[in-house]
Amino acid sequence: MRSENKYNALITGVGMYVPEKILDNKYFEALIDTNDEWILSRTGIKERRLLENGATSDLAANAILDLLKSKNMSAEEIDVIIVATVTPDMFFPATACLVQNKIGAINAWGFDLSAACSGFLFAFQTGASLVESGMYKKVVVVGADKMSSIVDYTDRNTCILFGDGASAVLIEPSEDKSVGLQDFILRVDGSGKDSLHMLAGGSLNPANHETVDKKQHFIYQDGKAVFKVAVKGMADVSYELIQRNNLTGDDIDWLVPHQANLRIIDATAERVGMNKDKVMLNIAKYGNTTAATIPLCLTEYYRDGKLKKGDKVVMAAFGAGFTWGASLIVWGID
Ligand code: UT7
Repeated sequence: MRSENKYNALITGVGMYVPEKILDNKYFEALIDTNDEWILSRTGIKERRLLENGATSDLAANAILDLLKSKNMSAEEIDVIIVATVTPDMFFPATACLVQNKIGAINAWGFDLSAACSGFLFAFQTGASLVESGMYKKVVVVGADKMSSIVDYTDRNTCILFGDGASAVLIEPSEDKSVGLQDFILRVDGSGKDSLHMLAGGSLNPANHETVDKKQHFIYQDGKAVFKVAVKGMADVSYELIQRNNLTGDDIDWLVPHQANLRIIDATAERVGMNKDKVMLNIAKYGNTTAATIPLCLTEYYRDGKLKKGDKVVMAAFGAGFTWGASLIVWGID
C-alpha cells in the first residue's frame, strides 16, 4: 500500500504520435497464410501503424511535442523524461537522451525503463514517485515502441499482432489528494522468460551470424501460454486493487487494459465485474503497441471528451518478463 506523501502524482497533460502508414489485415494475406477473419476474431485487430523512416526516439519525441503543444509548454520546463520501451534506438545511449536532444529539453535528465507491455505502468509509477517525493515538478513519461523493428514478418503467430506508436503523459504534483494516483500493484516473475522474449543481441547471446540465421533478433511468443497468465495476472491485480480500496467494478468509470488481444481484455473486464462499455479500446486501430497502448487510450478518450475529471480509472497491463500490474487513478483535468 502507499505511504503518506504531501503530494499526489497527477496526470496534467497527454500527447500521442502514430505514424501515418497503415497496415490492414489484407496486407498480411499477401505475406503469410492468414486472413482478415482469423485476425479479427482471434485478436480484435483490424489495422496497425508502421514507422517507415526513423526510430523509437522519433515516435517518443513527436508524442512529447504533441503534449507540449497542447499544454502550451516549453520543453525547457521538463525536469525528467522516462522512456518505457523494448525497442530502444540502440543499447546505449538511452533513448531518453536522444529524445531529450530532439525536443530540446535542456534542463531534463532521464532514462529508459524496460518492462515490455507493462512498461508504461512501471514508468508511470516511477515518475509518480519522483513527483510525490517533492523532488521534481514536471516529469514526462512516454511509452514508445517501434515494434516493426523486432517483428519477423514471416511468422504468422506474431507479425499480425504488433504496431508502432508512442504516447506521453505529464505528471505534476497535486496537493488535492482526491485526484491523481491513488494506489497500485506491480509484479514481476522472471520464470516467464521462456514464453515471450527476444533471445539474442544482449550479453547472453551476442549478435553473430548464427543468431541472425536462427532469427533470434525477433520476438518469440508462445501465445497460448501467455494468454492464460495474462488474463489471470491482469484480472487478479485489478480485482485486488479495486477491493482493497473498498470499491467494486461499478465504482470504476474506466478500465484501461493493455491492448494485446480483445479476448484477453474481455475476460479481464468480466473477471473484475466491469461492463464492456467502460473499457477503453484502441486495439482495432493500432494493434499491440507494447508500452504505448495505455497512454494512447488515455489520450484519445480524454481528447474525445469521454474521460472526464473525477473519473476513477484502473490501468492494467501484462507483458514479457513476466511483468504485470494495475494502477488506480482519479482523472484530474477538465
Ligand atoms: O502483449 C504482451 C502479452 N501478449 C499477449 O498477451 C498475447 C497472448 N496471446 C494471444 O493473444 C493469442 O494466443 C494469439 C492471438 C497470439 C494466438 O491466438 P490463439 O487463439 O491462442 O491461437 P493459437 O496460437 O492457439 O493458434 C491456433 C491456430 C494454430 O493452428 P493449428 O495448430 O491449430 O493448426 C495456429 O498455427 O491458429 C494458427 N494461427 C494462425 N492462423 C491464421 C496462428 N496465427 C495465425 C494467423 N492466421 N495469423
